[in-house]
This record gives sequence, structure tokens and C-alpha cells, in this order.
Amino acid sequence: MTQVLRGNIIQAPRLGELDIREHGYLVLKDGVVQGVYDALPQALASAPITDYGDRLIMQSFVDMHLHAPQYPMLGMGMDLPLLDWLNTYTFRTEARFADPDFARRTYRRLASDLITNGTTRVCMFSSLHTEATWILMEELERAGVTGYVGKVNMDRNALPGILQETTEESVSETLRWLDGCHFEHVRPIITPRFTPSCSNELMAALGRIARDRGLYVQSHLSENRGEIAWVKELHPDCAQYWETYDKYGLWKDHTVMAHCVHSDARECAAIRRAGVVVAHCAGSNINLCSGVSPVREMLRQGIWVTLGSDIAGGAQLPMYKVITMSIRASKVKRMETDWSEDFLTVPEGYYLGTTAGHRYFGGGEGFAVGQPLHAIVVDDGDFPEPVRPLTVRERFERSLYMLHRHNITAVWSHGRQVK
Ligand code: GUN
Ligand code: FE
Repeated sequence: MTQVLRGNIIQAPRLGELDIREHGYLVLKDGVVQGVYDALPQALASAPITDYGDRLIMQSFVDMHLHAPQYPMLGMGMDLPLLDWLNTYTFRTEARFADPDFARRTYRRLASDLITNGTTRVCMFSSLHTEATWILMEELERAGVTGYVGKVNMDRNALPGILQETTEESVSETLRWLDGCHFEHVRPIITPRFTPSCSNELMAALGRIARDRGLYVQSHLSENRGEIAWVKELHPDCAQYWETYDKYGLWKDHTVMAHCVHSDARECAAIRRAGVVVAHCAGSNINLCSGVSPVREMLRQGIWVTLGSDIAGGAQLPMYKVITMSIRASKVKRMETDWSEDFLTVPEGYYLGTTAGHRYFGGGEGFAVGQPLHAIVVDDGDFPEPVRPLTVRERFERSLYMLHRHNITAVWSHGRQVK
């Protein structure tokens, strides 16, 4: 079925580039984008039109790193650095997801909050629990959130008896989990929590599973100085943190590494060489006093950078808040480096929170022809009255900084309207 959406269309096909169509037309066939036009092509004159009037039609957001079982502790426990934060608050919270009913309630709420805030694709960590991970995938799919979810693997340095697997359990439960994943738009990804949580034997087994089953991998890298020093102690044979993943076949094309705050030139070169994707989590990095990642420099080097909320190290789920936080953090970096580094512009931040992430899932550049639609519709009618009429570009900028979920009046995910 052909369908036409009319409104002010704003897409970011490339880093730093905005394509704006004032009162333009977005043409769909069975939810798949056929084209974006300034004027409706003659041949479509009789197609049904959904007229969004003066509203903004924007790309939906992609959250490339978040921890679903940390949603209950959102906004809490921000007084400790990473390793103490994990041991004091985080592991105990995740342990609650042994209870499927609690998992169901929490994950239903999380899935709904993602959609109402305009996030339609995710790359997400679950907990180590197999049942709760299936429940998470089911709830995401039901709400219309698509992407990857990983059952977390952790067989050391956690909380034995509360939140830790044996090596054998971790491997056999991963295989059982993979065999039970039959979801259409939510797929599994191999997820060693981070090097300190996984024995060498477990890392090796996960590397083999990822290879044999053709699965992507996600984990954490160089988030915090204490963590990096600990990894060095655990793997004295590795010159750098990334090599602990590389040693076991986990460092490869499309591997998502969250943070990379302290990745130096050598580690960045390894990221680029391998086609590893950085999930930059600016809010979390500040909350946990991890540092400010040199994202602008990474982009200059041609590294594939995406954005993550890192719930609950990050305290804000909406990606429009994550985008503006990333812009703010990049300005801190600029001030810290004696103004030598550029900051992220608003169009660049929008690109990182949309197209850069959509590409991970096979999406194209902006509203690419042939891709199922991932979009939001924004009504900025209740923002403060401006002193003069604003351009669509100005309204777009203001929306990224000012949005609240009630301003997102429609959400399209994988070609289907889900809000
Ligand atoms: N490193 C290992 N686990 C975690 C986690 O849950 N959150 C963050 N921010 N870093 C981690
Ligand atoms: Fe994380």
C-alpha cells in the first residue's frame, strides 16, 4: 500500500549535513521509503496523505548502549566511580532479574518509555539471566523496539551466589538462550560484560560462538583508569585493553565497544582498522567521573562513532537528551584542550544519534530509499513563543534541546506506526 506523509522533513544523511524539506513529502510503500520530495510526484496525486501540517518529521533515535536491568536504579547511586558503583549498586540491582515477574514489569515499562521517547533501535545489555533476557526481547518486540539484545556473560569478580555464573553455566546458558531466540526484529548479540568479568576460558568460548554462529559482539572498553589498570593486571601479556578482546576473536567488524574514553592513538587505530563501532556515552562518563571522550578527534580519524544512554550510568533515557549531552561534553573537551579540538555541532549530534546508529542495523543514510521507515513526528507548538518566526532549521535545533516526550506525537518503527 502506498502512503504519503506530509510535513517538515529533516534528515541527516551524512555527518554535519542536514537535508530539510519544508512542507515536503515522504512516500512509503508497505512502510518502506520510496523517496523524499519537495513536491508530490504527479503519479501519486491520488495516494492517501497523512498530513502532519507544520510539524517536524525527523529520523527516530538509536541507543547503541544501555543496560535494561539497571532501569530500576535510574537516577540513583551516582556518588561512586565505576568499579565501586558496580559492586555497591549495580550488581545487586541486576540480581533482581532472576524473578521473571519483576523482569516483565520493568521491561514492559522500559520498552514503552523507549518508544514514547522516539528510540526505535537499540543495542542493549540484559543481565546474565536467560529467562529475563527472553522476556526483555519479547517486550521490546511487542512495543516496536528493534535491534540487538545480549544475555550478559560474567563468571568472575562479581557477586558469587548473587550475580555470577560458573564458566560452564555461562557457556551452556548462552547456547540455550541463543537456541530460544525466535524474535523477528530483536536479535541476539554476544555480550561479555567486560574483561574483568570474564575468565580467559569464557572469553575464548564466546569468541568461538560468535564466529560459528555469525553473531556480532558488544562490550565495554577503556571507560575508567582504575578499570584499565585492572585489565592490565589480569592480562599482563596484552599491551592494551582492546587486545584482551582481540586475543579471543571478539574484536572484529561491527563489535560495539561502549565508552572508549581513554583510548589513545594506538587503541583508536585498532578500532578503525577492525571496523569496531564506538558507543559514546557522554552522560554516564560524567556521572561516574570516568572522563570526557575525545569524540570529535575520533570522528576526524574516521572512526564509526554512535551514541548510547548507558542507562543507568547515564541517567537519561531519551536520546534527544543524550545528543545534547554529547554536544555539551564535546565543548568541555574543547575547553580542556585549550580550544584546539572542535566541538560537535547540532547537525553532527543529530547524525550520531540517528544515521550513525541506523547504519549498524543495515539502515541507509537518512530516510534512505528501500529502508523501512524509522521516524518521529514532533509538535513544538507548546514551546515558548519566539520573538520572530523561526526557520525549520531553528525549530529543529530548538526541538533537540527542548523536547519532552509529549511533543513526540507519532513514532514509526520498521515501517509501522507504533505511537
Ligand atoms: N563496565 C562493566 N559493566 C558496566 C556497566 O554496567 N556500566 C558501565 N557504565 N560500565 C560497565
Ligand atoms: Fe555500560
